[in-house]
Amino acid sequence: ISTLSRVNAYFEEYLSQKSRMRGSFSDLSFARSSSAGSLGTDEGLLEQSEPLVSSKTVPEKILWQRSVEMRDRQQAWQDSPDGRRMLEFRRSLPAYIQKEAILSVVSKNQVVIISGETGCGKTTQIPQFILESEVESVCGAACNIICTQPRRISAMSVSERIASERGEKLGESVGYKVRLEGMKGKDTHLLFCTTGILLRRLLADGNLKGVTHVIVDEIHERGMNEDFMLIILKELLPRRPELKLILMSATLDAELFSSYFDGAPAVKIPGFTYPVRTHFLEEILEMTDYRLTPYNQIDDYGQERMWKMNKQAPRKRKSQIASAVEDAIKSADFKDYNPQTQESLSCWNPDSIGFNLIEYILYHICENEKPGAVLVFMTGWDDISSLKEKLLTHTVLGDPNRVLLLTCHGSMGSSEQRLIFEEPEDGVRKIVLATNIAETSITINDVVFVLDCGKAKETSYDALNNTPCLLPTWISKVSAKQRRGRAGRVQPGECYHLYPRCVYDAFAEYQLPEILRTPLQSLCLQIKSLRLGSISDFLSRALQSPEILAVQNAIEYLKIIGALDENENLTILGRYLTMLPMEPKLGKMLILGAIFNCLDPILTVVAGLSVRDPFLTPLDKKDLAEAAKSQFCGAYSDHLALVSAYEGWKDAEMDMVGYEYCWKNFLSLQSMKAIDALRGEFICLLRDIGLIDSNATSCNSWSSDVNLIRAVICYGLYPGICSVVHNEKSFSLKTMEDGQVLLYSNSVNARETKIPYPWLVFNEKIKVNSVFLRDSTAVSDSVVLLFGGSLLKGDADNHLKMLGGYLEFFMEPTVAETYRSIRRELDDLIQSK
Ligand code: CDP
Ligand code: MG
Repeated sequence: ISTLSRVNAYFEEYLSQKSRMRGSFSDLSFARSSSAGSLGTDEGLLEQSEPLVSSKTVPEKILWQRSVEMRDRQQAWQDSPDGRRMLEFRRSLPAYIQKEAILSVVSKNQVVIISGETGCGKTTQIPQFILESEVESVCGAACNIICTQPRRISAMSVSERIASERGEKLGESVGYKVRLEGMKGKDTHLLFCTTGILLRRLLADGNLKGVTHVIVDEIHERGMNEDFMLIILKELLPRRPELKLILMSATLDAELFSSYFDGAPAVKIPGFTYPVRTHFLEEILEMTDYRLTPYNQIDDYGQERMWKMNKQAPRKRKSQIASAVEDAIKSADFKDYNPQTQESLSCWNPDSIGFNLIEYILYHICENEKPGAVLVFMTGWDDISSLKEKLLTHTVLGDPNRVLLLTCHGSMGSSEQRLIFEEPEDGVRKIVLATNIAETSITINDVVFVLDCGKAKETSYDALNNTPCLLPTWISKVSAKQRRGRAGRVQPGECYHLYPRCVYDAFAEYQLPEILRTPLQSLCLQIKSLRLGSISDFLSRALQSPEILAVQNAIEYLKIIGALDENENLTILGRYLTMLPMEPKLGKMLILGAIFNCLDPILTVVAGLSVRDPFLTPLDKKDLAEAAKSQFCGAYSDHLALVSAYEGWKDAEMDMVGYEYCWKNFLSLQSMKAIDALRGEFICLLRDIGLIDSNATSCNSWSSDVNLIRAVICYGLYPGICSVVHNEKSFSLKTMEDGQVLLYSNSVNARETKIPYPWLVFNEKIKVNSVFLRDSTAVSDSVVLLFGGSLLKGDADNHLKMLGGYLEFFMEPTVAETYRSIRRELDDLIQSK
């Protein structure tokens, strides 16, 4: 304990010295230097270093002149043939018809709630209405509209769309800002950004100086950030009486929001959609009549050709599908369906069994139905990629040249994105496999057929076991309706729900908001750093408050890792963590990496944990991919495997063979580049908060010390720790809370039969059926003893208690003895010095 206290004292002193050098924390300033701004850590239009366009900073006359110029430019565009066509399109949107009504409500009220069917023009038109009406008024150029989107991809695609509607380039009057990327110019008055970006801006300037309108889009999604931001915005409104807040959503419980904002008026844009014929599972089965004539329409020329290409008779394939579907339906007993437990439907997995069904319906549409794009809602990226693979290998859809198979998900690139909006050539059927991102935020214009698997991956949080889960769950009625609605945008459409009507009837009306179902640690830190008072009090003012137990767990975690002290105040470490826009554990690693002069690999570890897994395992080349991965293993650490893969790529980049390196080693080039960009961003952040000097090289003198790096990783991931229990042939893992846990099969440690360390620290545990650990690193006793838990004042006892708890729990005499001897050694050491 005395050794630990000395170490603690050292850390405390070190960090407080650094913070004294940096100046006071009281202004809560955040990463304002120009270096951070240019790399995208600060917020575009919102940058503090740049004077905002307002009547205070720019003389009124100049503002007026700019307004006139802007208006003239728009007029000229609208008089051009392209501009006229675009204006005509805009005027046809339901939102346009309500333009005057909307503007009048907005001008008369501080808060307005606007709802309307997806695709009616809320996102693209309403911010433009406000911009245009402000420009027409004398000081229009002083208006600054910020519109938040829950996902970066929609912020980017919407701003691009609006710019083209205005005949401008992106970055003129309309711009966007998402993490690591942005586009805006000196005349940008309408900025699309992610909710996270606006939140960070609120952290830097609680009054949103210079901003005239905040539009929060897609509030029906009820993400954690959005709910959190609404509490803050609600409390900001009285301080900024001229600030307007507009909440927009496709379908929402307008009353809930209206009463939260003291009876704010709600405008509903009457929508128009063509009728959509709905088929639940029962009807699909009847309609496709596979039982009666599984071989119909097979024997034409196209099928013959396909048979040759495939070496597998499509008729065989088709009957296989039919019987698999039949089996699936037999095994799932829908009649006794219990909506609470979802029991008796457990064997009905609309994705794995339903693949066959989806394939069958797609086949049916391609063969028999009128032209029009098909949108398939799947649970997640993994299902999308395996279905895509399946469709490509079976070519059950007919001539591959007549099918355009695309995917749509949150992490797709911008070129992939553009393809989705484009109309295919005549005679080509566009099929888009999408996650629920296509439900409300992305509108694919030409969709006529929708397939809905009925599930979506949802992060949830088991407060009792303190375990986050990522599980496919049934969607809500509102979501199902949204999905259905996508089919009726251009002409009457068809929607195939791949579940029976009784399952639909049991769906909840709305999805549970994220704040009620996920861990709250980062949120709690943010509340503290914004000085919003007691965490529980603040959260009790939310639209819907989270469970007390969940709040307590989060506070407890923050205490264990040393971000909060016993009185729930931010420690110095906690303050540093609030300035790093990442999970607390990753922030801790960066801080310690900087202190211990081994920043380089730690930057890679932290960046790697923030991007998609760079190790690829294509289904048909699994063995090759695993063999390639094994050259990076050997340190019993997924984190260190990533570091060595990244460093290999960096070397290859130097020799201009980065692409080949990734190809050969089954690594995602995109992830490597993202890691590279993030590393740069982190360096700027650390520089801005004063943890490293402007020449960051001095922080790398210990970068090749693998054991030190393990220690830093452990410092971040604790209390994510399990003990390794060896038996004759292999080993098993146990945590205190869950008992036996398993490793994800792609972990490097899952290939080992023996791990020569007593502990694994892990990044994440997820409950699927059993509890699985993702990304682990093996660590020794002494590392856990010195680096597990907080090393800041007051927590040493807590940490030892916890570790002692572990030892007692596992009753491992050898481990206990090692632990005791280390402590004896440490005490001796201290005596002798
Ligand atoms: O926000 P909301 O769902 O109400 O609709 P929106 O995103 O404003 O889109 C209005 C219309 O603009 C859509 O119906 C699409 O036809 C069109 N649009 C487009 O063609 N390309 C885009 N990238 C976005 C919208
Ligand atoms: Mg929208």
